[in-house]
Amino acid sequence: MRNWFVILGMLFSVNVFAAMPQELLKQYEAQAKQESPTFSGFSAEKGASFFHAERMHSDGKKVSCSTCHTNDPRNQGKTRANKVIEAMAPSVNPQRFTDVAKVEKWFGRNCKDVLERTCTAQEKGDYIQYLLSVK
Ligand code: HEC
Repeated sequence: MRNWFVILGMLFSVNVFAAMPQELLKQYEAQAKQESPTFSGFSAEKGASFFHAERMHSDGKKVSCSTCHTNDPRNQGKTRANKVIEAMAPSVNPQRFTDVAKVEKWFGRNCKDVLERTCTAQEKGDYIQYLLSVK
C-alpha cells in the first residue's frame, strides 16, 4: 500500500514538471481539432487581440485579461484586491504554463470573470501562443 502511494507521488510529480508550454499547446490543439473541424492552428496575433479586448461585463464594467495582467504581459499585474500578479510572459516568468492543473484552474476562473463563459481550446491556445511570442 505504501509503495503504491510512492509510485502515485512519482507519477504526479513527473506529470507536473514535464508540462512545458509546447506540450500544453499540443493538448489544446487536440481539443481544438475536436471542437472545430476547420481548426487551422493557433495564432499569436489572435491571442494578442484576445488578451487586450475589452468586453462589457453584465455588471456594467469593462473588463479584459489586461485589466489584471496589464497591457504588457512582461509586467507584473494586480488583482482587484491590489495583490501582485507575477508577469504572464514565460520569457520573464518561466513558471508560466508549466503546470496543467494551475493553467486550467485560472483559465476557468478568469474566462468566467471576463467572458462570462468558458474559453474554447482555440482561445486558450492562441493566448499561450501570444504569450510565448512576447520576448
Ligand atoms: C480579476 C483579475 C484577473 C483577470 C481579469 C484575469 N486574470 Fe488571469 N490570473 C489572475 C490571477 C490572480 C492569477 C493567479 C496568480 C498567478 O498565477 O500569479 C491568474 C493566472 C492566470 C493563468 C495561469 C497561468 C500560469 O501558468 O500560471 C492564466 C492561464 C490566466 N490567468 C489567464 C487569463 C485570461 C485568458 C484572462 C482573460 C480572459 C485573464 N487571465 C484575466 C487574475 C486575473
